[in-house]
Amino acid sequence: MAHLTLLDPVKKEIKDPQAIKNFMNERGIIFEQWQTSMPLKDTDSQEIILKAYEHELGPYMKKHGYVNADVINVHKETPNIEAIRAKFLSEHTHAEDEVRFFVDGEGYFFFHLSQTSEVFRLLCEKGDFISVPKGVTHWFDLAPKYHVKAIRVFQTPEGWVANYTQSGKEQGY
Ligand code: LAC
Ligand code: NI
Repeated sequence: MAHLTLLDPVKKEIKDPQAIKNFMNERGIIFEQWQTSMPLKDTDSQEIILKAYEHELGPYMKKHGYVNADVINVHKETPNIEAIRAKFLSEHTHAEDEVRFFVDGEGYFFFHLSQTSEVFRLLCEKGDFISVPKGVTHWFDLAPKYHVKAIRVFQTPEGWVANYTQSGKEQGY
């Protein structure tokens, strides 16, 4: 279950799922909670995970023109975990919407909205679905658990490309 922390200019914790959804949606960020139709095991393959959410994922992909889906699965023992963490940890944008559906584990999405200068952090956990619009500045922290299993969908074959802002904004949080 997600947990939202407003960091700037106001500080506030928001735990109510509907309030989180409203807050994100008002800022153009899609946030939903999805149910799996099947229990999943730690050892399940990418294919099984994608199948478990097909009833939600299929229609979403069709409606929004997504062509590829994969599962990012990192944990403490993943080689170069600190290098992977560092890649997400600097403020960046993407040229397409960033869609993540959290199947297991957790991670912190940080947002820094250029229009309002608001900064807030969303803890994403199992069942949380998010779509960050292209161009919205954000960063992501794998810590403290260093365990994330999430479905990603892509509109272009290039998939994940981060355009780093080099602002250093993430260092204040
Ligand atoms: C990404 C997220 C984690 O770009 O910001 O994959
Ligand atoms: Ni990103």
